[in-house]
Amino acid sequence: MKITVFNGSPRGIESNSHRIVKPLLEGAAKAGANVQEIFLVDHNIQHCRGCFNCWDKTPGKCTINDDMTDMISLYLESEIIGLATPVYNMYMTGLLKNFTDRLLPLATPHIQVSEEGEFYHEGRVNSFPSQFMIANSGFPGDNNFKIIQALTSLQPMVLEVYRNCGELLAQPEYDKYKKRVEDFYSELSKAGKELVNNGYVSDEIVENIHKELISDKDYMNLGNQYWDDELEKNKKGN
Ligand SMILES: Cc1cc2nc3c(=O)[nH]c(=O)nc-3n(C[C@H](O)[C@H](O)[C@H](O)COP(=O)(O)O)c2cc1C
Repeated sequence: MKITVFNGSPRGIESNSHRIVKPLLEGAAKAGANVQEIFLVDHNIQHCRGCFNCWDKTPGKCTINDDMTDMISLYLESEIIGLATPVYNMYMTGLLKNFTDRLLPLATPHIQVSEEGEFYHEGRVNSFPSQFMIANSGFPGDNNFKIIQALTSLQPMVLEVYRNCGELLAQPEYDKYKKRVEDFYSELSKAGKELVNNGYVSDEIVENIHKELISDKDYMNLGNQYWDDELEKNKKGN
């Protein structure tokens, strides 16, 4: 089984998104999957030009010649794909949105309607990979995930990870929270294994993944102090 995660953080390998993806894919690899994480920021993926050439002039093929050709092959070779993003302005990053726009050649122009009365484009391929979503927010709480959750409510997902207080993951020196963060990574690894073995992740693991890492108050205090210190350091540097 091939699992590919498309990571839309501009921070690439240094991202909190990667800190979440890594243990999940390690767990999946232990269960026998062939895993890969693509850092979209390291690739030449131009934005969709809206020309619809992929629907008429060159059906199924985008006329932009860039890394998206390889990305689409990788997407179709995978049984499961993951989309990983930090929350930016309440949604996914432009990098990831751009990537998803460029999947348009996989649809045909024909409009169909489901039994529920929802309209969609017919798929050009017989089978699409299952998907999972990983999002992390800089804020505490859950409200910053609402728009991404609106999207995932329309597209079936085999797993959804919404990690608030995401910047805590970048601060492994905060000893007080180390154990909770390690437990979080360990649950992600179990989720990766379950995805491969069962095709889904049990409610218990999903619940454990979403346990609080740090209280909202502590996170706000640490975050505000961090930025005050950075401002002070930079003032002195000038
Ligand atoms: C341009 C920009 C917009 C952001 N918007 C939000 C936001 O709307 N809500 C939020 O919780 N965090 C927001 N953040 C914070 C990031 O989600 C947070 O720093 C995250 O941990 C970064 O993850 P990454 O290391 O995977 O990129 C924003 C950060 C940037 C740079």
